[in-house]
Amino acid sequence: MSNYSRYIWFNGKLTNFENAKIHVLSHCIHYGSAVFEGIKCYDTDNGPAIFKLKEHMERLHKSANAFKIKIPFDVNTLCEATKELVRKNEVKDCYLRPIAYYGFDTLGVHPKKCPVEVSIATLNWGAYVSKDALEKGARITISPWKKYKSNAFPSSTKASGPYLNSMLAVQDAKSRGFDEALLLNEDNTVAEGSGQNIFLIKNNVFYTNDQTSNILLGITRSTLFELIEELGYKYKVQNISQDDLFSADEVFYCGSASEVTPIKQIDNHKVGNGKSGLLTLKLQEKYYNIVRGKEEKYFKWLSFISD
Ligand SMILES: Cc1ncc(COP(=O)(O)O)c(C=O)c1O
Repeated sequence: MSNYSRYIWFNGKLTNFENAKIHVLSHCIHYGSAVFEGIKCYDTDNGPAIFKLKEHMERLHKSANAFKIKIPFDVNTLCEATKELVRKNEVKDCYLRPIAYYGFDTLGVHPKKCPVEVSIATLNWGAYVSKDALEKGARITISPWKKYKSNAFPSSTKASGPYLNSMLAVQDAKSRGFDEALLLNEDNTVAEGSGQNIFLIKNNVFYTNDQTSNILLGITRSTLFELIEELGYKYKVQNISQDDLFSADEVFYCGSASEVTPIKQIDNHKVGNGKSGLLTLKLQEKYYNIVRGKEEKYFKWLSFISD
């Protein structure tokens, strides 16, 4: 348990780790009726700072609304609670996991009067794919599992149940010795990773897809749009075919947990020269400088816990 810190914010109060428990008949366990976020807090020269905290809590509310889960705490309360939790747990670099879910009232699929419960935890998670992948590039595989369509679940929300699709994909990828999975849509266009958005670079132009490819519109993805332009490059948003992918100079994954993870291999195809791409590493460095509070211009994206 050493990776999980001492307090968990649980339905409005800081609770000891051991006491943050739910009932086995909670609706969310049976039907995956929960929405969640993955957020990172970074150690900066001005103390721990949470990256794009408000945007994440707003998305949590948006996801909840899509499933008619009424979160009994507004965005501001959740942001302040998160800062307080980081302070109290005395952590610096950490991963944060807010979740809102239906608790126990009925076991019918219709949640009727199930209470909505909310918790926020801090975790010491380290690199999501792996430290090695962040530096030297990840090896990914195209999943035999297709990405579910947005008319089955709203894919631009982060809800627990639909993550079974990601779980199948990453279990399969790991069982075949790869670092991560890449899910394609029914029509074989590229969707996304099990927990990441994808970008490719061709002739110095960055490409990524959008909601028409049944993806989560990642917060990191939109952060990178600004950084790509600041570095003097252009990006285009369009559907990505397998051909685009295999003819790309560079490919990378991005996400709050995965940050900017270069991809060096897709199945037995070498991306570029089979090493982390140089533009990818340049963007990764820029991203790290910003999240780690090295660029004052971007303090606007950081919630310093001392404030
Ligand atoms: C399926 C999926 N796509 C994309 C992302 C990236 O989203 P974000 O940048 O908001 O973390 C995530 C991470 O949460 C994810 O789980």
